[in-house]
Amino acid sequence: MAAKKGFFIVLEGPDRSGKSTQADLLKEWFENRNKKVLMTREPGGTRLSEEIRKLLLNPKNFITALAELFLYEAARAQHTAEKILPALKRGEIVISDRFTMATVAYQGYGRKIGLEIIKKLNRIATCGLKPDLNIVFTMPDSEFDKRRRTRLGFIKETPDRIEKENNAFRRRVNTAYRKIALKEKNILKIDATGKIGEISSAIRNAIIKKMNPVRFRRTRWKSQI
Ligand code: TMP
Repeated sequence: MAAKKGFFIVLEGPDRSGKSTQADLLKEWFENRNKKVLMTREPGGTRLSEEIRKLLLNPKNFITALAELFLYEAARAQHTAEKILPALKRGEIVISDRFTMATVAYQGYGRKIGLEIIKKLNRIATCGLKPDLNIVFTMPDSEFDKRRRTRLGFIKETPDRIEKENNAFRRRVNTAYRKIALKEKNILKIDATGKIGEISSAIRNAIIKKMNPVRFRRTRWKSQI
């Protein structure tokens, strides 16, 4: 993998956890500090990956669990090579709405495909690239169900192929994010039921700490005197 100079941030979590709102706020924050930001998403981010996204989310398509896994990984391989790695090499901040953890949650826990297979495919598709900071949004099942009912009941959007999945699948995915957030290292766990302003300041603090740990330690030390 090419040496990278930029900083790679990924937001993960179940549908309607508030990730996209926070991604937008974060972009604005960086841009106000004159940083060049690449905002992207998975599946998607390149012309080919956006085409694959349409196939994956079209509720009319019947896709087996294995074909679904390969399609997500194909979209990711293209996205990583064509967009993420070059931007990091140019020294940019890359913010992605979902990345490899989503495949662990949805295809691993949701579809029950072996986690070892998924981790291996994730490694291959990304050439081993890992986020500098993974931000994981979690919420209790009750809140998750409430947000789904609100969206489907009031906004009347047509659910996509994944949103149409049964309750048991969606519950497994929601639980998966809570489990992953407890287990994995190098992540920032966010309670998705928190206030937007509090969440964004927790995210910004974690980023400052990661991007400049020495300065952060000094600041903390000074403020305690
Ligand atoms: P979203 O970008 O609007 O959240 O839609 C993407 C959907 O695809 C969402 O339901 C999560 C799902 N997904 C997977 O099942 N596996 C993956 O690897 C990724 C990136 C997303």
